Amino acid sequence: MANIRCVKVSKKAINVHKAGRMGLQNTTHGMVGLVTGGASGLGRATVERLVKNGASAVILDLPSSDGPALAASLGDHCAFAPADVTSEADVRAAVSLARERFGKLDLAVNCAGIAVAVKTYNFKKDVPHSLEDFQRVINVNIAGTFNVIRLAVGEMSKNEPDADGHRGCIVNTASVAAFDGQVRKHDVTTPRKLSCSITAFSRWVKQHIRLLKGASLE
Ligand SMILES: NC(=O)c1ccc[n+]([C@@H]2O[C@H](COP(=O)([O-])OP(=O)(O)OC[C@H]3O[C@@H](n4cnc5c(N)ncnc54)[C@H](O)[C@@H]3O)[C@@H](O)[C@H]2O)c1
Repeated sequence: MANIRCVKVSKKAINVHKAGRMGLQNTTHGMVGLVTGGASGLGRATVERLVKNGASAVILDLPSSDGPALAASLGDHCAFAPADVTSEADVRAAVSLARERFGKLDLAVNCAGIAVAVKTYNFKKDVPHSLEDFQRVINVNIAGTFNVIRLAVGEMSKNEPDADGHRGCIVNTASVAAFDGQVRKHDVTTPRKLSCSITAFSRWVKQHIRLLKGASLE
C-alpha cells in the first residue's frame, strides 16, 4: 500500500511559487499533466503553459472541441483524448493515453465545466428553473471532477515520490461564486461550493498526492 501524507499549501508557499516564473518552470518541467476542459479557456491556458515549460500535456475534452487542432499545434508533447468527464470509460482511456504516450501521470487539472445562468424562478414568465439543467451542471462539474480525481490518483500512486515526497498533484477549479452567490449564478455557486468540499475531503486521501483548489475571480 502506498504511503500516505496530506499536504496543505500555505498562502506564503503559493506566493513564492507565483513570484518567479523560473520557479514554475522548474516545478513542471518534465512532468505529465492531464487537463480537463483543456481545449478552451482556463484549461487551454494551462495546457499551453505546461508545454511551454517543458512538460507534456493530455487535453481531455469533448470530441467536438478544438482539442485535436490545439494538440497538433503544440507538437509531440501534447496529445488529445476525446472524452466526457462524466464517463468512466472515457476518463480511463485518457489516463491510459498519458501513460502510453508520456510514461506517467503527475498532474490532473480539472477545468472542464459548464454553467447555466438562469434565475431560480422567472416571475415575469411564471417559469421555474429547469431541474434537468441544474442536474446536468452538477453531473459535469461535480461528478465529472470526482470521476477524474478518483481515476487519476490511481495512476499517480504508481509514481515514485519526488524530492518533496509527492507522487502527484491535483488542481480543482473553483470560483469566487462558491463563497459569494450571484444572481442567476446558483448553477455555478452550488457546484463550486461542492468542488471546494471535494477538495477539502480529498485532502485526506493519503497517497502523497497534493490537492489544490484554484479559485478564480469570476
Ligand atoms: N473563466 C473564468 O474566469 C472562470 C472563473 C471562475 C470559474 N470558472 C469555471 O471554470 C471552468 C472553466 O472555465 P472556462 O472559462 O475555461 O470555460 P470554457 O467554456 O472556456 O472551457 C470549458 C471547457 O470544458 C469542456 N467541457 C465541457 N463539458 C465537458 C465534459 N462533460 N467533458 C469534458 N470536457 C467538457 C468544454 O468543451 C470546454 O473546452 C468553468 O466551470 C467555469 O465556470 C471560470
